[in-house]
Amino acid sequence: MPKLTVVTRDGTEMTIEGRAGLSVMEVIRDNGLDELLALCGGCCSCATCHVQVDEAWTDALPPKSDDEDDLLDSSDHKQANSRLSCQIQFSDALDGMRVTIAPED
Ligand code: FES
Repeated sequence: MPKLTVVTRDGTEMTIEGRAGLSVMEVIRDNGLDELLALCGGCCSCATCHVQVDEAWTDALPPKSDDEDDLLDSSDHKQANSRLSCQIQFSDALDGMRVTIAPED
């Protein structure tokens, strides 16, 4: 299974495995990382699944939809590499990607 490295808010870095086809949010949540609230369950309506994707991986991702970008605008912590993790489908092509859970808004 492809691996994902996650940096939590306290700087702890861990590498987890995820099934291709799940969203990055689901991979993180299913590994017990409850910092990522994902309150809307992946419907692109809450922005509590905000992550910052390592620069080396941003080009490997499909572009943000307008809805995703609008929701990220509501965060005080939006950066150029910000994404909503529920909107990224995990896959073998993303094996080794590193994301940081964004600070809580
Ligand atoms: S889980 Fe709500 S926007 Fe991603």
